[in-house]
Amino acid sequence: MKNIAAFIGLMSGTSIDSIDVVAVTFAHKNLNLLGSYSHPMPAKLRAQILSLSEPGQDDVQLLAETDHCLGKLFAEASLALMTQLNLSSKDIVAIGSHGQTIRHQPPGIKPGFSLQIGNPNQIAAVTGCSVIADFRRKDMAYGGQGAPLVPAFHREIFHHPDKTRVIINIGGISNITILDPSSGCRGFDTGPGNILLDAWCQKYTNSNYDDEGQWGATGLYNDALLTQLKNHNFFSRTGPKSTGREDFNLDWLEQQTHLFDLTPADIQATLTLYTADTIAQSIADLAEPIDEIFVCGGGIFNLELIRRLNESLLQRTMPAIHSTARLGLEPNWVEACAFAWLAKQRIDMKPGNVPAVTGASRETILGCIYLP
Ligand SMILES: Nc1ncnc2c1ncn2[C@@H]1O[C@H](COP(=O)(O)OP(=O)(O)OP(=O)(O)O)[C@@H](O)[C@H]1O
Ligand SMILES: [Mg+2]
Repeated sequence: MKNIAAFIGLMSGTSIDSIDVVAVTFAHKNLNLLGSYSHPMPAKLRAQILSLSEPGQDDVQLLAETDHCLGKLFAEASLALMTQLNLSSKDIVAIGSHGQTIRHQPPGIKPGFSLQIGNPNQIAAVTGCSVIADFRRKDMAYGGQGAPLVPAFHREIFHHPDKTRVIINIGGISNITILDPSSGCRGFDTGPGNILLDAWCQKYTNSNYDDEGQWGATGLYNDALLTQLKNHNFFSRTGPKSTGREDFNLDWLEQQTHLFDLTPADIQATLTLYTADTIAQSIADLAEPIDEIFVCGGGIFNLELIRRLNESLLQRTMPAIHSTARLGLEPNWVEACAFAWLAKQRIDMKPGNVPAVTGASRETILGCIYLP
């Protein structure tokens, strides 16, 4: 395979579960997924990222070292996929690297900022490829939330000329994109995706996540706790809105649950319903007819979560969900593909944000170029 003008997308999300890498081409606007690869995240690095993600636990030395180590790891992950696909740096136009978010503060009373680390210079030097990174801060410079950034990509590849589609991405945080043929593209974070389910599972089981939601399915949900969790002030905010570990984390969850006499499995069951129900409510709040709903992100593999989500949508007379695989893209690679596409947008000098989603005052070209 030579001179094929591929783009690589590198994504490591809020869940800190692994680094997703894809190689894609965009011939005639059609996305072609050449290959994909999931690179393990070492436990030590994961712990460092978690420590840096805790407000108040600031350490400049740790930040700089983790930035360096992650840059190396992102480079290794890219090279692993390039080797697997027999691609050389000459075949790659650019690598779009989201970076690892360690702090996200949407604009409000305090100034907005979003910090992603994983030294792009390191990625460029090791792979020999141009790297595009720092996608969020330009949008924020124009007053935006800097998130979510995937809606522009969803619009590009998942839009339908006549049907209103909703795309739900259930990562650590969940976000939705509304693709309405008449009124365009909107979107926002709906709240927790896998983040609380993972945190509770890690505390009470030996697993990083609730495999297929089987543990949660053994518990009984508790209505009073569900109501209390829904009182989180994130849900009273109107869009544009974005969230992260700052709003939904284990400390907050423990404060919410400690007065309830429930088993850990009952709490997991409640969290599963909570996650599903808040996503469904966000879609119902749009108060417009939705024709089709598609889901991507790792949450799709939590079968109990998906069962609850379908139930919650049905209660609100919404259509049942399908995987984005039905639209030709496997759900676990959508986000990484989005960052490959955002890299292409940067190279083509085209905007990557959607002001109706982020609240930025204008469309703008996102990302900086790091040459090898
Ligand atoms: N078999 C499974 N059963 C249950 N949950 C799963 C399974 N496989 C993956 N997951 C969930 O998916 C999560 C990873 O999803 P994903 O990679 O989309 O999230 P992310 O890295 O946080 O991305 P984002 O940037 O969208 O937040 C895991 O942490 C886990 O909660
Ligand atoms: Mg992930």
